[in-house]
Amino acid sequence: MIEETFVMIKPDGVKRGLIGEIISRFERKLMSITELRMLTLTRELAEELYAEHKGRDYFEKLINYSISGPVVVMKIVGENAIMNCRILVGDTYPEKRVPGSIRGDFSPYLTENVVHASSSKEDAERELRIFFG
Ligand code: PPS
Repeated sequence: MIEETFVMIKPDGVKRGLIGEIISRFERKLMSITELRMLTLTRELAEELYAEHKGRDYFEKLINYSISGPVVVMKIVGENAIMNCRILVGDTYPEKRVPGSIRGDFSPYLTENVVHASSSKEDAERELRIFFG
């Protein structure tokens, strides 16, 4: 099933010069980048993206980190792209990340974790709408 999903290279991924490395991992999995933009999130945009996390104890830290520098937002299209992007990204929790995933290879941290990918069809549609209309 061909799907569209939303992926964002977060401020630490951009700062560390990982844009090319990360994009090539999605392309190697036979997925296509059909939209791409670099921007710095405003607080309002970051709060909209992470609306479902509002009220959690980590919310402020997550928002401050998300607006701390430029990010790269993308629309990615491919076979089961939502699930496949999540697998390539790796787990939310550092202790569950495996080498070979982006987070497993590049981040030992919970918050500064290099990349985000939508977790469901509903999230993908909502997040793509925020950035690409
Ligand atoms: S969960 O636990 O199912 O809600 O996890 P997830 O859907 O992957 O989203 C959690 C996002 O918040 C970021 N974040 C944290 N999560 C849990 N605990 C702490 N302390 C925390 N700090 C930040 C986490 O990186 C996820 O961000 P995204 O960009 O969605 O991967």
